[in-house]
Amino acid sequence: MKSTAKDYRHIQFCDDRSKIDIKQLQTLFKLAAFWARERCSEDLEIAVANSNPIVTAWDGEEMIGFARGTSDGIYRATIWDVVIHPDYQGGGLGRKLVQTVLSHPLMCRVERVYLMTTHQQKFYERIGFEYNQSTTMVLYNQPMESLPRTEQNSANQTANAVSISR
Ligand SMILES: CC(C)(COP(=O)(O)OP(=O)(O)OC[C@H]1O[C@@H](n2cnc3c(N)ncnc32)[C@H](O)[C@@H]1OP(=O)(O)O)[C@@H](O)C(=O)NCCC(=O)NCCS
Repeated sequence: MKSTAKDYRHIQFCDDRSKIDIKQLQTLFKLAAFWARERCSEDLEIAVANSNPIVTAWDGEEMIGFARGTSDGIYRATIWDVVIHPDYQGGGLGRKLVQTVLSHPLMCRVERVYLMTTHQQKFYERIGFEYNQSTTMVLYNQPMESLPRTEQNSANQTANAVSISR
């Protein structure tokens, strides 16, 4: 991690999705998000359109932080794709980014907020997240064209059930 001596008071946080620049998002992911390096702009547009809230961090016109959530507004929510540009890490911006997502009206009343992380458990613990061994199921989606129609319907129901039970 970088030194905490830098002054980041000029960094602006924003939850206006219309400000999101997909090219800058791709650049940020290529730099700092190992799981999202190969995402194309068309798919990122879809993810952005279907996520709420989305919080970005800005140094002037440069987007240096991104995080997005999905939420039902009351029971369950999930946080995805939390990234701070490597030059800006270690100064509290990641914490502020996640806290800004959590304080959004779609997240702040939700009973449980989940997230998945490969390496950053310590970071999220500092924000108040806890390990949760009991909710680790995942469905790797199969192409639906390869299934007969009746199985296709039941596969859809299974997917929904796993999501609901989280
Ligand atoms: C994870 C990430 C968002 C953290 O952002 P950041 O701005 O560097 O983190 P902060 O400075 O806000 O750190 C907040 C606290 O977490 C601690 N922390 C941050 N990263 C840590 C790590 N890897 N290990 C242990 N503690 C960590 C900080 O020391 C700080 O502790 P404090 O409460 O004592 O002050 C950033 O490192 C990043 O973008 N990494 C690459 C992408 C990534 O892995 N994202 C997470 C995907 S799930």
